[in-house]
Amino acid sequence: MNRTIIYLLIVIAAVLGFVFTANDTQENAEILVENQSDVVMQVKLDPHEWSSKELGILQSLSLESLPALPPDASNFVADNSIASNFGHQLFFDARLSSNGEVSCASCHKPELKFTDGLPRSLGVGVTPRKSMTIIGTAYSPWLFWDGRKDSQWSQALGPLENPEEHGANRNFYVHIIANDASYRGQYESLFGEIPDLSDAIRFPPSAGPVSDPEANAAWDSMAPEDKEVINKIFVNLGKSIAAYERLLMPGNSRFDDYVESALSNNRQQQEELFTESEARGLDVFIGKAQCINCHNGPLLTNNAFHNTGIPPALDLPPDFGRIEGVYMVKEDPFNCLGEYSDEDQEQCEDLIYTRTEGQEIIAAFKTPTLRNVAETSPYMHSGQIPNLTEVIRHYNAAPLAVRGHSELATIDLTTEEMRALEDFLHTLSSPVDVSAEYLESPWQQLLSEE
Ligand code: HEC
Ligand code: HEC
Repeated sequence: MNRTIIYLLIVIAAVLGFVFTANDTQENAEILVENQSDVVMQVKLDPHEWSSKELGILQSLSLESLPALPPDASNFVADNSIASNFGHQLFFDARLSSNGEVSCASCHKPELKFTDGLPRSLGVGVTPRKSMTIIGTAYSPWLFWDGRKDSQWSQALGPLENPEEHGANRNFYVHIIANDASYRGQYESLFGEIPDLSDAIRFPPSAGPVSDPEANAAWDSMAPEDKEVINKIFVNLGKSIAAYERLLMPGNSRFDDYVESALSNNRQQQEELFTESEARGLDVFIGKAQCINCHNGPLLTNNAFHNTGIPPALDLPPDFGRIEGVYMVKEDPFNCLGEYSDEDQEQCEDLIYTRTEGQEIIAAFKTPTLRNVAETSPYMHSGQIPNLTEVIRHYNAAPLAVRGHSELATIDLTTEEMRALEDFLHTLSSPVDVSAEYLESPWQQLLSEE
């Protein structure tokens, strides 16, 4: 009897032992790594295998999830093709500058994904901030690093009167349109007749609310109803440029194809599309490094403002980012609530409810898209970081902010993880999804047709 019990116990122990060992082998599919801070991390053995939760995240980052572009109710010509063609010409026209040499395309070069490759841009002068891409900005509720504009058309008016960028003023531009037969024709077919502006006392050739004292005094001397005439035409130029910019959308990247193959469980295609390192980098991006806290959605931006402790450029005056930008946009006569917007004022919720105070918006800057990021160096609002390796080091170290408080915490990435993350960022490049003629200057096209 006793023997039988002992025998049974031995058998049970053996079975249990087997079960436990089997369990162990299963767990070994993930290597447990212990790092310095005693956090146990799990490193995937198979970088191409994604849990259903991870697949959901990948799908949310893919262009497939990009909703159809909503209409821009603030701009009644936003989707008008005459306006986008007109805007295309304005975008590339260097006559629209005080020295005849600067166009929007000087700092937003199609071949550099509509950036300029410089830490700070070169126009009539040098700007304190880095140029940003225009691709996909039709989806953005805020424009500029500090979000001081709330529509594409209103944004376009900024550089035209900025002394460091195009450097002239609204009267100057309006006269160019009125005196050029082709421009005048296109303008009038969209917005109606341009009134007679030939009286140089009523409509000075150079005038606007700008820093140039002469042009500024000339603007002050104008009658309110004449200013109104000029403002309307100036605004309509912005609306036409915006109609062009709305066409600039990101095309499918290798990352988007990879997500599609992962979702359809096409293992072979996954391996063809992504190296092991790129797949691991994607895992770091959505997992350990939590980059998707801010770089999320198909454009890899939450369109919000964050302080990430980027060291200020030492030779520039302090830049407080959003906390100043929010006041500028609230007071801008060309904002969503202003008389020049075609928007129903009830629709201006973003502007009405945006946060105007608080620690979080001090030295906070707009989360930029990461689409095409490998092609748009240098990085950050004043081009403080030269390359992606340094960007990742910054996130890993999460230094304290010089102004305000950084939201970042240190990540403890290994050298391999950092390299993998950088490799992954290179998979986000893609051509601009627009017909080729919009990526060239229409002026070159006109010349070659002659
Ligand atoms: C001298 C260079 C320069 C010129 C010329 C220029 N830009 Fe920019 N652009 C910049 C810089 C620099 C920024 C960021 C400025 C800031 O945040 O203060 C910017 C930002 C933008 C943004 C914001 C993108 C975003 O994600 O918020 C858009 C859109 C844009 N520019 C369009 C234009 C248009 C349209 C024109 C022509 C009317 C133009 N730019 C002319 C340098 C330039
Ligand atoms: C708390 C929000 C937040 C998190 C988390 C975050 N970012 Fe950013 N990212 C930003 C903001 C804001 C900027 C612009 C900062 C500035 O210029 O001051 C930025 C800029 C960048 C840039 C430069 C892009 C350009 O065009 O200049 C890259 C690259 C980047 N982030 C990658 C990452 C990666 C990789 C991670 C994860 C390790 C990450 N970010 C995590 C908010 C965030």
